[in-house]
Amino acid sequence: MRYITVKNYDELSTKAAALICAQVNVKPNCVLGLATGSSPLGTYAKIIEKCANGEVDFSEVTSINLDEYMGLDGTHDQSYRYFMNTNLFSKINIDLAKTHVPNGCAADLEAECRAYDALIAEHGGIDLQLLGIGLDGHIGFNEPDKYFEKATHVVELDPSTIEANARFFASEADVPRKAVTMGMGGIMTAKKVLLIASGKNKKEIMEKAFFGPITPEVPASILQLHPDLTVIYSEE
Ligand code: F6R
Repeated sequence: MRYITVKNYDELSTKAAALICAQVNVKPNCVLGLATGSSPLGTYAKIIEKCANGEVDFSEVTSINLDEYMGLDGTHDQSYRYFMNTNLFSKINIDLAKTHVPNGCAADLEAECRAYDALIAEHGGIDLQLLGIGLDGHIGFNEPDKYFEKATHVVELDPSTIEANARFFASEADVPRKAVTMGMGGIMTAKKVLLIASGKNKKEIMEKAFFGPITPEVPASILQLHPDLTVIYSEE
Protein backbone atom coordinates (compact mmCIF):
# COMPACT_ATOMS: atom_id res chain seq x y z
CA MET A 1 0.00 0.00 0.00
CA ARG A 2 1.16 3.51 -0.81
CA TYR A 3 -0.46 5.87 1.73
CA ILE A 4 0.11 9.43 0.59
CA THR A 5 -0.81 12.40 2.77
CA VAL A 6 -1.14 15.71 0.96
CA LYS A 7 -1.79 19.19 2.25
CA ASN A 8 -5.16 19.94 0.68
CA TYR A 9 -7.97 18.82 -1.59
CA ASP A 10 -6.50 20.55 -4.62
CA GLU A 11 -3.24 18.62 -4.31
CA LEU A 12 -5.19 15.40 -3.76
CA SER A 13 -7.22 16.04 -6.91
CA THR A 14 -4.12 16.88 -8.98
CA LYS A 15 -2.38 13.67 -7.91
CA ALA A 16 -5.43 11.46 -8.45
CA ALA A 17 -6.13 12.95 -11.90
CA ALA A 18 -2.47 12.43 -12.86
CA LEU A 19 -2.65 8.74 -11.87
CA ILE A 20 -5.90 8.18 -13.79
CA CYS A 21 -4.66 9.99 -16.91
CA ALA A 22 -1.37 8.05 -16.76
CA GLN A 23 -3.42 4.84 -16.76
CA VAL A 24 -5.34 6.00 -19.85
CA ASN A 25 -2.14 7.06 -21.62
CA VAL A 26 -0.42 3.75 -20.90
CA LYS A 27 -3.50 1.71 -21.96
CA PRO A 28 -5.88 3.83 -24.09
CA ASN A 29 -8.57 1.11 -24.10
CA CYS A 30 -8.44 0.55 -20.34
CA VAL A 31 -11.40 -0.07 -18.04
CA LEU A 32 -11.81 2.56 -15.33
CA GLY A 33 -13.92 1.83 -12.28
CA LEU A 34 -15.43 5.16 -11.25
CA ALA A 35 -17.05 6.61 -8.14
CA THR A 36 -19.46 9.44 -7.39
CA GLY A 37 -19.80 11.64 -4.28
CA SER A 38 -17.89 14.77 -3.26
CA SER A 39 -14.42 13.23 -3.13
CA PRO A 40 -13.83 12.72 -6.88
CA LEU A 41 -15.31 16.05 -8.03
CA GLY A 42 -11.93 17.84 -7.96
CA THR A 43 -10.26 14.89 -9.67
CA TYR A 44 -12.89 14.93 -12.43
CA ALA A 45 -12.43 18.69 -12.89
CA LYS A 46 -8.67 18.18 -13.37
CA ILE A 47 -9.26 15.31 -15.81
CA ILE A 48 -11.61 17.55 -17.83
CA GLU A 49 -8.85 20.19 -18.02
CA LYS A 50 -6.27 17.63 -19.16
CA CYS A 51 -8.63 16.26 -21.78
CA ALA A 52 -9.36 19.79 -23.08
CA ASN A 53 -5.59 20.43 -23.28
CA GLY A 54 -5.10 17.30 -25.35
CA GLU A 55 -3.02 15.61 -22.62
CA VAL A 56 -5.27 12.54 -22.54
CA ASP A 57 -7.74 10.84 -24.88
CA PHE A 58 -10.75 8.96 -23.47
CA SER A 59 -12.19 7.83 -26.81
CA GLU A 60 -11.33 4.16 -26.26
CA VAL A 61 -11.89 4.02 -22.50
CA THR A 62 -14.65 1.93 -20.91
CA SER A 63 -15.98 3.02 -17.52
CA ILE A 64 -17.83 0.92 -14.98
CA ASN A 65 -19.31 2.79 -12.03
CA LEU A 66 -19.56 1.41 -8.54
CA ASP A 67 -23.15 1.98 -7.63
CA GLU A 68 -26.59 3.51 -8.13
CA TYR A 69 -29.55 4.34 -5.92
CA MET A 70 -32.47 1.98 -6.27
CA GLY A 71 -35.48 3.61 -7.90
CA LEU A 72 -33.71 6.65 -9.41
CA ASP A 73 -33.39 6.65 -13.18
CA GLY A 74 -30.69 8.50 -15.10
CA THR A 75 -32.82 11.63 -15.52
CA HIS A 76 -33.12 12.13 -11.74
CA ASP A 77 -30.61 14.79 -10.72
CA GLN A 78 -29.47 12.75 -7.71
CA SER A 79 -28.94 9.54 -9.63
CA TYR A 80 -25.34 8.50 -10.07
CA ARG A 81 -25.83 8.17 -13.85
CA TYR A 82 -26.86 11.85 -13.91
CA PHE A 83 -23.88 12.75 -11.69
CA MET A 84 -21.42 11.02 -14.02
CA ASN A 85 -22.93 12.48 -17.19
CA THR A 86 -22.93 15.98 -15.72
CA ASN A 87 -19.61 16.02 -13.88
CA LEU A 88 -17.45 14.02 -16.26
CA PHE A 89 -18.80 12.19 -19.29
CA SER A 90 -20.36 15.18 -21.08
CA LYS A 91 -17.10 17.12 -20.65
CA ILE A 92 -14.53 14.62 -21.97
CA ASN A 93 -14.33 12.67 -25.23
CA ILE A 94 -15.53 9.36 -23.77
CA ASP A 95 -18.00 7.34 -25.85
CA LEU A 96 -21.21 7.35 -23.75
CA ALA A 97 -21.99 3.85 -25.04
CA LYS A 98 -18.85 2.62 -23.27
CA THR A 99 -19.92 4.06 -19.90
CA HIS A 100 -21.74 1.81 -17.43
CA VAL A 101 -23.67 2.56 -14.24
CA PRO A 102 -25.91 -0.06 -12.58
CA ASN A 103 -29.58 0.37 -13.47
CA GLY A 104 -31.30 1.03 -10.14
CA CYS A 105 -34.69 0.88 -11.88
CA ALA A 106 -34.27 -2.56 -13.47
CA ALA A 107 -37.47 -4.63 -13.21
CA ASP A 108 -35.38 -7.62 -12.16
CA LEU A 109 -32.62 -6.27 -9.92
CA GLU A 110 -31.16 -9.70 -9.27
CA ALA A 111 -30.66 -10.18 -13.02
CA GLU A 112 -29.21 -6.65 -13.24
CA CYS A 113 -26.64 -7.55 -10.56
CA ARG A 114 -25.63 -10.76 -12.37
CA ALA A 115 -25.39 -8.88 -15.69
CA TYR A 116 -23.19 -6.24 -14.05
CA ASP A 117 -20.73 -8.88 -12.80
CA ALA A 118 -20.76 -10.50 -16.25
CA LEU A 119 -19.99 -7.10 -17.79
CA ILE A 120 -16.96 -6.67 -15.50
CA ALA A 121 -15.76 -10.20 -16.35
CA GLU A 122 -16.30 -9.70 -20.12
CA HIS A 123 -14.01 -6.70 -19.98
CA GLY A 124 -11.33 -8.74 -18.23
CA GLY A 125 -11.85 -6.87 -14.96
CA ILE A 126 -11.15 -3.27 -14.06
CA ASP A 127 -7.71 -1.78 -14.72
CA LEU A 128 -7.94 1.08 -12.24
CA GLN A 129 -10.67 1.41 -9.62
CA LEU A 130 -11.24 4.85 -8.09
CA LEU A 131 -12.88 4.84 -4.65
CA GLY A 132 -14.07 7.24 -1.98
CA ILE A 133 -14.83 6.07 1.56
CA GLY A 134 -17.91 6.60 3.71
CA LEU A 135 -17.73 7.70 7.34
CA ASP A 136 -18.69 4.14 8.32
CA GLY A 137 -15.92 2.69 6.12
CA HIS A 138 -18.12 1.75 3.16
CA ILE A 139 -16.66 1.53 -0.34
CA GLY A 140 -19.14 1.59 -3.18
CA PHE A 141 -22.22 0.96 -1.07
CA ASN A 142 -20.70 -2.07 0.67
CA GLU A 143 -21.87 -1.21 4.15
CA PRO A 144 -20.50 -2.65 7.43
CA ASP A 145 -21.69 -6.23 7.74
CA LYS A 146 -20.83 -9.63 9.18
CA TYR A 147 -19.07 -10.70 5.97
CA PHE A 148 -17.63 -9.22 2.79
CA GLU A 149 -20.11 -9.57 -0.09
CA LYS A 150 -18.35 -10.56 -3.29
CA ALA A 151 -20.93 -10.06 -6.03
CA THR A 152 -22.86 -7.00 -7.19
CA HIS A 153 -25.89 -6.81 -4.92
CA VAL A 154 -28.77 -4.77 -3.58
CA VAL A 155 -27.96 -3.19 -0.25
CA GLU A 156 -29.91 -1.44 2.50
CA LEU A 157 -28.15 1.84 3.19
CA ASP A 158 -26.90 2.47 6.71
CA PRO A 159 -28.68 5.24 8.67
CA SER A 160 -25.29 7.07 8.80
CA THR A 161 -24.98 6.91 4.99
CA ILE A 162 -28.56 8.17 4.54
CA GLU A 163 -27.79 11.04 6.92
CA ALA A 164 -24.47 11.86 5.17
CA ASN A 165 -26.07 11.84 1.71
CA ALA A 166 -29.16 13.83 2.75
CA ARG A 167 -27.19 17.00 1.92
CA PHE A 168 -27.83 16.33 -1.76
CA PHE A 169 -31.61 15.82 -1.40
CA ALA A 170 -34.47 18.14 -0.40
CA SER A 171 -34.80 16.18 2.85
CA GLU A 172 -33.48 13.04 4.51
CA ALA A 173 -36.81 11.35 3.75
CA ASP A 174 -36.06 11.68 0.01
CA VAL A 175 -32.81 9.66 0.18
CA PRO A 176 -33.44 6.20 -1.28
CA ARG A 177 -33.13 3.46 1.34
CA LYS A 178 -31.57 0.94 -1.01
CA ALA A 179 -28.90 0.89 -3.70
CA VAL A 180 -27.21 -1.48 -6.14
CA THR A 181 -23.48 -1.78 -5.57
CA MET A 182 -20.55 -3.58 -7.09
CA GLY A 183 -19.34 -6.11 -4.54
CA MET A 184 -15.88 -6.65 -3.12
CA GLY A 185 -15.09 -9.15 -5.90
CA GLY A 186 -15.25 -6.49 -8.62
CA ILE A 187 -13.25 -4.05 -6.50
CA MET A 188 -10.58 -6.48 -5.27
CA THR A 189 -9.94 -7.96 -8.73
CA ALA A 190 -9.20 -4.50 -10.14
CA LYS A 191 -5.54 -4.41 -11.16
CA LYS A 192 -4.99 -1.11 -9.36
CA VAL A 193 -7.05 0.62 -6.69
CA LEU A 194 -6.88 4.34 -5.90
CA LEU A 195 -8.80 5.55 -2.83
CA ILE A 196 -9.13 9.27 -2.14
CA ALA A 197 -10.46 10.96 0.99
CA SER A 198 -10.30 14.41 2.50
CA GLY A 199 -11.41 16.19 5.63
CA LYS A 200 -10.80 15.91 9.37
CA ASN A 201 -14.10 14.04 9.74
CA LYS A 202 -12.62 11.12 7.74
CA LYS A 203 -9.39 10.91 9.76
CA GLU A 204 -10.66 8.34 12.24
CA ILE A 205 -12.16 6.00 9.63
CA MET A 206 -9.00 6.26 7.50
CA GLU A 207 -6.92 5.11 10.45
CA LYS A 208 -9.30 2.23 11.16
CA ALA A 209 -9.53 1.18 7.51
CA PHE A 210 -5.84 1.22 6.64
CA PHE A 211 -4.05 0.67 9.94
CA GLY A 212 -6.60 -1.34 11.92
CA PRO A 213 -7.78 -4.95 11.73
CA ILE A 214 -9.24 -6.28 8.47
CA THR A 215 -12.92 -6.77 9.20
CA PRO A 216 -16.21 -6.57 7.28
CA GLU A 217 -17.34 -4.15 9.97
CA VAL A 218 -14.94 -1.67 8.31
CA PRO A 219 -15.47 -2.68 4.66
CA ALA A 220 -12.56 -0.61 3.25
CA SER A 221 -10.13 -2.52 5.49
CA ILE A 222 -10.15 -5.37 2.94
CA LEU A 223 -8.15 -3.08 0.65
CA GLN A 224 -5.10 -3.67 2.88
CA LEU A 225 -4.90 -7.03 1.09
CA HIS A 226 -4.88 -5.49 -2.39
CA PRO A 227 -1.49 -5.86 -4.14
CA ASP A 228 -1.58 -2.44 -5.85
CA LEU A 229 -3.34 0.05 -3.60
CA THR A 230 -2.72 3.80 -3.51
CA VAL A 231 -4.46 5.91 -0.87
CA ILE A 232 -4.37 9.71 -0.98
CA TYR A 233 -5.63 11.61 2.07
CA SER A 234 -5.73 15.28 2.89
CA GLU A 235 -6.95 16.57 6.23
CA GLU A 236 -8.13 19.86 4.66
C1 F6R B 1 -20.05 6.66 -4.49
C2 F6R B 1 -19.52 5.70 -3.56
C3 F6R B 1 -19.41 5.99 -2.10
C4 F6R B 1 -18.67 7.29 -1.79
C5 F6R B 1 -18.62 7.53 -0.28
C6 F6R B 1 -17.91 8.82 0.06
O1 F6R B 1 -20.07 6.13 -5.80
O2 F6R B 1 -19.22 4.65 -3.98
O3 F6R B 1 -18.74 4.92 -1.48
O4 F6R B 1 -17.37 7.21 -2.31
O5 F6R B 1 -19.92 7.56 0.23
O6 F6R B 1 -18.68 9.88 -0.40
P1 F6R B 1 -18.10 11.36 -0.40
O7 F6R B 1 -16.99 11.39 -1.38
O8 F6R B 1 -19.27 12.21 -0.85
O9 F6R B 1 -17.65 11.65 1.00
